Amino acid sequence: VRCEALFAGDATRAADFSARAAGMLLDYSKHGIDREARAALFALARSAGLEAAIARLFAGEKVNRSESRPALHMALRGGAPDAADTAVVAQAKRAAHATLERLCELAEALRTGGLSDSNPVEDIVHVGIGGSELGPRLAYEALVGQARAARRIHFVANVDGHAVARLTATLDPRRTLVVLVSKTFSTQETLLNGEVLRRWLGDRLGSEAAAERLLAVSANTAAVARFGIAPERTLPIWDWVGGRYSLWSAVGFSLALALGADAFRALLAGAAALDAHFRSAPLEQNLPVLMALIGIWQRNLCARPTLCVVPYDDRLQALPSYLQQLDMESNGKRVTPLGVPTESATAPVIWGGVGTNVQHAFFQALHQGTDVVPVDFIGVIAPDHALGANHAALLANLFAQSAAMMRGRRLESSDAALDRQRDCPGDRPSSTLLLDRLTPSTLGALIALYEHKVYTQSVLWGINAFDQWGVELGKSLANQLLPALADPNATIPADLDGSSAALIAAVRAAR
Ligand code: F6P
Repeated sequence: VRCEALFAGDATRAADFSARAAGMLLDYSKHGIDREARAALFALARSAGLEAAIARLFAGEKVNRSESRPALHMALRGGAPDAADTAVVAQAKRAAHATLERLCELAEALRTGGLSDSNPVEDIVHVGIGGSELGPRLAYEALVGQARAARRIHFVANVDGHAVARLTATLDPRRTLVVLVSKTFSTQETLLNGEVLRRWLGDRLGSEAAAERLLAVSANTAAVARFGIAPERTLPIWDWVGGRYSLWSAVGFSLALALGADAFRALLAGAAALDAHFRSAPLEQNLPVLMALIGIWQRNLCARPTLCVVPYDDRLQALPSYLQQLDMESNGKRVTPLGVPTESATAPVIWGGVGTNVQHAFFQALHQGTDVVPVDFIGVIAPDHALGANHAALLANLFAQSAAMMRGRRLESSDAALDRQRDCPGDRPSSTLLLDRLTPSTLGALIALYEHKVYTQSVLWGINAFDQWGVELGKSLANQLLPALADPNATIPADLDGSSAALIAAVRAAR
């Protein structure tokens, strides 16, 4: 049955296949799911023990089996412990709360007083990669327009020297604060860029003033000390926070400094509101569960290998990249904690871009391509500008694309060949998520929504969402190749495959 047909004769479908939470409306009625199929999906969720798995997550059980750790990103935004908390969660909340107070205090001090030589902090260089960059970048770009007297954050992630070089060429070291963010403090890119920036500060300001402008955020305080950053300039994070779930921790320090502690606290409060919804809402009204089950329907029942995320808000350009790591580094796995292959396909490829721009890039394929790609459309009802005509056009395009994907078009003219080339098959599924406004609170809720969707899918697929063993191999091979690329006289490793050896030889020949 085509999805459009499900609306015919069902006046309540749109309302029935929508749900609200924390300032967001989820409309999932344009998926070809009827009430019977939806009931089956909830039965699947219950048979997978989803409710117990949600309770285990919030109780601080070691859901990260391969590293024998809990996943307690919710404790970062959960405020003070309450009586219902387990000892593990209470302890995590206390540590998180203390650090939150410390980072907010430090941020406000640097916003008002500046550095000891009375220079104001105007530019923050946030050095980090993956979860140590993507969350802060997303939140900064989404919220910087609303913050009065915002300080600029410049993100440096890539080991490619072009990233850090463009900053050291333009920033004033006297007014710059560098924050090295790395949970392990062993990430090659971050340490190399940290060294470049430390030298840049030191060469211009002397080691004393440089040290004052270099902070660290890490779970590895020993490695931070070895790097030469003092404990009083180090903010802690913990091994019970996964990197891609760490925005809410001191990883977000530069946000508190740039946007103000109030904005950072509001971000956390929005996420906490979604946590409460996820823990308490019946599965049938539970936004993360609904999105997870829709994802299972598309990925496993309909065998659609990708999910496209299209925020219709220029401030959310960074959202698809953020969700790529959150979703694909969490659920890009093919083996269960018991070491056996999963029974079904797991994380879809996450991709996307900002609307309306991508209507002029890849929407042709979404409408007429051979593959059906489910889309998450995200819109904001109330804009933060007074350009009414622009916003009306934005929302009209948002709704039109979703409708066009479902409805399609069939032409009947005298030129059948041309008609078929111009037809849109339709019956292409999408969800629409509408935020009342884009604020620190609704952004926090939106991100937490996807965090819990990802966790829910990991439960249904029977995989561990919180480890990432797959990233090790590439890193170790890079370490093996580095000498041959850093030193033209170094021997090329003998056991290298012919392609890698030839590529290294090509670099050497060109130099
Ligand atoms: O991509 C692997 C990874 O470990 C991510 O999980 C993490 O967010 C990123 O690298 C950075 O790690 P760190 O914060 O330890 O520098």
